[in-house]
Amino acid sequence: MNDFDSKDFFTDPSFIPDPHPYFDHLRSKCPVQFIEPRGVVAVTGFDECLAVLRDTSTYSNINAATGPFPGMPFTPEGDDISEQIEQHRPEIPLNEHLVTMDPPKHTRIRRLLAGLFTPRRLDENEEFMWRLADRLIDTFHASGKVELLHEYAQPFALLTVADLLGVPEADHAAFVAHLSSQTPGAMAEDGALGANPLEFLDSKFSNYIETRRREPVGDVLSILAESRYSDGETPDVVELVRLATFLFGAGQDTTARLITASFRLLGENPELQKQLREDHSLVPQFVEEALRLEGPVKSDFRLAKKKTTLGGVDIPAGTPVMVSLPAGNRDPQRFPDPHEFRLDRDNAREHIAFGRGVHSCPGGPLARVEARVTIERLLDRMADIKISEEKHGPADDRHFTYEPTYILRGLASIHLEFTPV
Ligand code: HEM
Repeated sequence: MNDFDSKDFFTDPSFIPDPHPYFDHLRSKCPVQFIEPRGVVAVTGFDECLAVLRDTSTYSNINAATGPFPGMPFTPEGDDISEQIEQHRPEIPLNEHLVTMDPPKHTRIRRLLAGLFTPRRLDENEEFMWRLADRLIDTFHASGKVELLHEYAQPFALLTVADLLGVPEADHAAFVAHLSSQTPGAMAEDGALGANPLEFLDSKFSNYIETRRREPVGDVLSILAESRYSDGETPDVVELVRLATFLFGAGQDTTARLITASFRLLGENPELQKQLREDHSLVPQFVEEALRLEGPVKSDFRLAKKKTTLGGVDIPAGTPVMVSLPAGNRDPQRFPDPHEFRLDRDNAREHIAFGRGVHSCPGGPLARVEARVTIERLLDRMADIKISEEKHGPADDRHFTYEPTYILRGLASIHLEFTPV
């Protein structure tokens, strides 16, 4: 037996620095594999991941963001547990958020997002991002060094979502103060999610939306406050508040970690920096390959509602299924030499870092713009970017710390040195 098979993926810290040898091991046995001790099915093949993500009639999203913890508050009975899930849904953690909903409720709520992600709003938001990028770079530029996660990526991702939703600029500092120290998705001792980081946002957004319902002022929050379901019905304030707060939860840490992962790749590769500096039109391609290779969502989960077969493996109703997006993105059947970074990989954009199907990330276009703006601005204003040897060791013996969670793949910090331009 390989040493991997005796370890618990969800709690063993040895999987944190680099989970890929384990994912490769699982895929080489079978891309659909029961892993013990939690009876989770791990899906590590690209095609098999897609099959699960696209099949909402067999799989429920109820455990999408939590996985096997804390488990379902019922014992699955029979070959179809759809009714049991609905009966117990209100007791299941995070059930109030979009990502855990199943159609038809999911379809109804997700449509509310369309009013926020309009082309005009996204254009205005991009203008804000360019200003914000410069403002943040100004805070560390002269020193020639930066710890990119806390000094740039987290406040950048946070304030971008704040601007998208129309949070008044006067409140931005309070948002940074309350939220940038949190790590959504961090693993508690039992491997479960830590405390709810969304409480601060709940109270802020209830206030914004209630005020604007009484007195709309034509801003983005007023559009949100006045939005309607497709049948014309008015959503409860609490529903809109949840949507807004969830956008922060989903859009903040993920994008921040994409930015830091991108600069780990760039910091190790001066030639690549040069190429992107000289030709900014290559940046979007770089971002796709960074998402494929280092996508920040490490595990997406489903619960088998019905008895099914996937990749020849029988899966009983009630089984938690771990859709391993990073493993799918490094499936050699889909991406030749999958562990290699290749700027000219022609199918990099097929990656599943943003999921697929009805739950696929609505913030994907936004995250791509955030990464592009950041990379262009940082490369323009910082020459000769290097990973700090003092903090991370010499090039042949680097040390990086990743967040201790099975949900996100995120550097805990990344120290860079550069020549200010
Ligand atoms: C690099 C950055 C990001 C990554 C890798 C990412 C990844 C993902 C993935 C994999 C899902 C699918 C979950 C599932 O299938 O169960 C998802 C859903 C979601 N993401 Fe993102 N995301 C990113 C940024 C954002 C941003 C910037 C926002 C919004 C501001 C956002 C908002 C959401 C929302 C609301 C959902 C739930 C969608 C639904 O269930 O219908 N994400 N994201």
